[in-house]
Amino acid sequence: MTVEAFAPAKVNLTLHVTGQRPDGYHTLDSLVIFVDAGDRLSFDAAETLSLTVTGPRADGVPGDARNLVWKAADLLGPGRGAAIVLEKHLPAAAGIGGGSSDAAAALRGLARLWEVDLPEAAELLALGADVPACLKPRPLRMQGVGETILPGPEMPAMALVLINPGVEVSTPAVFKALDRKDNPAMPTPPGWASAAVMAHWLGRQRNDLEPPALAQAPVIGAVLAALDDTPGCLLARMSGSGATCFGIYETNEDATAATDALRRARPDWWVQAAVPVSM
Ligand code: C5P
Repeated sequence: MTVEAFAPAKVNLTLHVTGQRPDGYHTLDSLVIFVDAGDRLSFDAAETLSLTVTGPRADGVPGDARNLVWKAADLLGPGRGAAIVLEKHLPAAAGIGGGSSDAAAALRGLARLWEVDLPEAAELLALGADVPACLKPRPLRMQGVGETILPGPEMPAMALVLINPGVEVSTPAVFKALDRKDNPAMPTPPGWASAAVMAHWLGRQRNDLEPPALAQAPVIGAVLAALDDTPGCLLARMSGSGATCFGIYETNEDATAATDALRRARPDWWVQAAVPVSM
C-alpha cells in the first residue's frame, strides 16, 4: 500500500512579533493560510528508513537525517522503516514553510502507514516552529512560538501569486536583526465577505520580519513592487522570514494574468499562482 500526502505552502498573511522568551525564541501572532502549491510525498512499507528527493526543486535538498522529513519519521517511530519519496516543488529556506510542511505531511502519511497516533503540538516544536501549524493545513491563527494554534476566521474567495527571487534568507539572522521585539499584537481577525475587504484589514497589519529581511535581501523590495504593479493586486507582503512574497487578488483570472506577466518579465524568479486550501 502506498500512502500519499500533500505538503502545501504556508503563507503568513500577517506576522506580528510580540516579544522574546528567555530562551531567545520570539513570540508571534500570525494569521496563516495554506495554498495549493506544494510538495508531494509518498510512503511505502520497508524494513529500513530511506528518503529519495525528486522534482524540480530537489537540488541541494538532503535525502538523509538532515532532512526534516527524516527527523519527523524518527520522532514518530524511532527505528521504524519506510521508503519515502519527497517531490520538491517549493523553494527551500523561503518563508513558505517548505521544510515544516514536508515534516508535517510526513507525520500525517507515516501515522497512516504505521497506524500510530500523531504526537502533541508541543513535541513537534522540536522539528520546527511551524510544524504544529502545518499539521492540519487550514486558515489559522498561530501564537506563542508556534505551539498555540487557534481556528482562523471565515476567509473570502481569493487568489494569490507567490514570488521567490531565488535568494535564501537566514531566519535566525532576520529575527536577530529586529529593531523591536515587543510590537503591537494583532487584533482578532473578524472574517471577511470579500478579498478586497480582507486586504484592507490586512493592510493595517504587518509582517514585522519584512524590514530586517529587506535589509538582508534588498531584492525583496523589487518583488513587492513588481506584485504591487500588477492589475488587481489588493495587497503585497512578505511571508514568514522571506524571501517569498505574495500578492492577493480577487479572482483566479487576475492572479493568472499577473503570473504570466511576471514570469515573462522575470524568468529568473519562481512565480506561482495559487488558491487557498484546507485539508
Ligand atoms: O524553528 P525554526 O526552524 O522555524 O526556526 C529557525 C530559527 O528562527 C530559530 O532557531 C530561531 O533563531 C528563530 N525563531 C525565533 N522565534 C520563533 C521561530 C523561529 O526566534 N518563533
